[in-house]
Amino acid sequence: KTVIVLFGGQSSEHEVSRMSATTMLNALDSQKYQVIPVGITKEGQWLIYTGPTEHISTGQWEKYATPAILSPDAKQKALLKIVNGHVKVIPVDVVIPALHGSWGEDGTIQGLLEMARIPYVGCGVLASSVSMDKVFTKLIAKNYGIPQAKYIWFYKDEFDQMDKLIERVEKKLGFPCFVKPANTGSSVGISKAKNKADLEKALLLAAGYDRKIIVEEAIAGREFECSVLGNEEPLVSGVGEVLSAAEFYDYDAKYNNSESRTVIPAPITEEEEKTIRKIAAKIFQAVDGSGLARVDFFMEEETGRVLFNEINTMPGFTAISMYPMLWEEAGLKKAELMDRLVELALL
Ligand code: DAL
Ligand code: MG
Repeated sequence: KTVIVLFGGQSSEHEVSRMSATTMLNALDSQKYQVIPVGITKEGQWLIYTGPTEHISTGQWEKYATPAILSPDAKQKALLKIVNGHVKVIPVDVVIPALHGSWGEDGTIQGLLEMARIPYVGCGVLASSVSMDKVFTKLIAKNYGIPQAKYIWFYKDEFDQMDKLIERVEKKLGFPCFVKPANTGSSVGISKAKNKADLEKALLLAAGYDRKIIVEEAIAGREFECSVLGNEEPLVSGVGEVLSAAEFYDYDAKYNNSESRTVIPAPITEEEEKTIRKIAAKIFQAVDGSGLARVDFFMEEETGRVLFNEINTMPGFTAISMYPMLWEEAGLKKAELMDRLVELALL
């Protein structure tokens, strides 16, 4: 089978995607698949990558690349390689969109693949877009009775009444609180605000990434993650705990601070584990998930309450990412995990 692994992309998680794709490319069995890595530059250009895998995350990958585009033509089901102005048609069986964030994890690339009728790994258009938008995810979770932190959301054009906005946040959520662009991943654009001055700064920062902002009550406690794999009747992994080296698990704490740690399995009670796994399956089904997702949680220190935080429809596959680690703990090696993901895409 010809498998395309898409990496990079136009979002603020471009670099993370290159790390995730590297893990996947190393795990895909070359006896079973003819793998074609295709990079998308930050500007959105598609390039077939022909260099060594290790340079995808570290080097100037664009050096080894030939322009190509994915045809939206459902009769072609193909990648079109462009060499000296001539088009070479490469038939494609499956696409793995190893892309995070906007134009990757938000239903847009999934829409293109639907048009092309090319099977792809992971969630469809609806599940992707609903899970990318933190406000919509909250609405769905609420409808399914899934416990979560309190929040307020608004568009940035309400910033012209900044004082009122700050008052609303203070009244409903208090401090500290988390300010997030509604549509980023890897904690890009997110800050913790401890007072009014912080809050204003945080709002302005978040507004640089999205016109829609969400502010959430900060939950003092622990953070957990859980992996889901499957379509209608998904498997749910055990639970892992995140021990952030920074005050919260922000971009640097995730990818640049080697003091951050993950603990698998998480030291929690059987009951707590059951609750987390149950909610993970429930939200995956609630958003109409397919293929895979990682679901993130808080556990409030004071009350022991488990709160759903978010669902990631293309979770990281970097060296520190919990999605593949949780499956390895469950006995599923990375190569087997990739096989399963490709199988699920073809169902
Ligand atoms: N958004 C990053 C890649 C994650 O959730 O793992
Ligand atoms: Mg995320």
